[in-house]
Amino acid sequence: MLPIRRDLKFKLPADKINDWHGDSVHVAHFLNSLSMLFPVGERFFMDSVRNYRDQITDPELKKAVTAFIGQEAMHGREHQEYNEALFAVAPSAAQMERFVAGLLKAVQKYTPKSAQLSATIALEHYTAIMADGLLKDPRILENADPQFRNIWNWHALEETEHKAVAFDVYKTVMSSRNPLRYMERTMGLVIATLILWPVVGVTYVRILREQGRLGDGKGWRQLFRFTFGEIGFFRKLMLPWLDYFKPGFHPWDHDNRHFLTMIDELVEEVSHYGEPQANAA
Ligand SMILES: [Fe+2]
Ligand SMILES: [Fe+2]
Repeated sequence: MLPIRRDLKFKLPADKINDWHGDSVHVAHFLNSLSMLFPVGERFFMDSVRNYRDQITDPELKKAVTAFIGQEAMHGREHQEYNEALFAVAPSAAQMERFVAGLLKAVQKYTPKSAQLSATIALEHYTAIMADGLLKDPRILENADPQFRNIWNWHALEETEHKAVAFDVYKTVMSSRNPLRYMERTMGLVIATLILWPVVGVTYVRILREQGRLGDGKGWRQLFRFTFGEIGFFRKLMLPWLDYFKPGFHPWDHDNRHFLTMIDELVEEVSHYGEPQANAA
């Protein structure tokens, strides 16, 4: 599976940042809280993989690494624009981004490069299983604004396409004879989990507080439906999350490449964004 860098511009309607989801402002802000993390997180992923780039000799993996970096750079650019719309209505989300950027800088300064790559493959596992959950259940975005729906689907599809790249780098550069490797890899996911969800949770609650929506019971019920209720996005993440602890785990053990057939149509649609409408005056 060789990922492809696609330079797409989503031109998101910034005025819809609160209600782009269509069904629920709460779910919109939950996903907006995840978006806050992407540009800083993806820069960290690119750096972690770049640290080992010189050690890769396999020509296919080299090409995949270049494409991985290219895809994450595009995701970061488009989500930065997304986040500017968010920060305009929720300055606390910008503060949270600065906090995460500082945290990741400290990780880069004080931890070994192997731990940074281990954190990257753990978080890439997260993005891969969340992408799978999103692509599997069309109800999640069915009433969303088309441009917002497309940016989420594009990101999910490309995370699927490159889900094994950082992992294959890790497997290539870490000695398989080192018994601590399994421990480092799996502890990476445990630590990532303990940091990721509190950061997303605090961001989400701060955005709601800023918007005076903390007491909105209907909104909370809609979020429950999405996370653990009828849609159960989190509930369905649990088993795939556990797969990571299998000693011989590989991201393509779960083969979901059939979703990638959706991508050409999406690219075609997005490539027309910003063009004058045929029926414009
Ligand atoms: Fe990404
Ligand atoms: Fe990724």
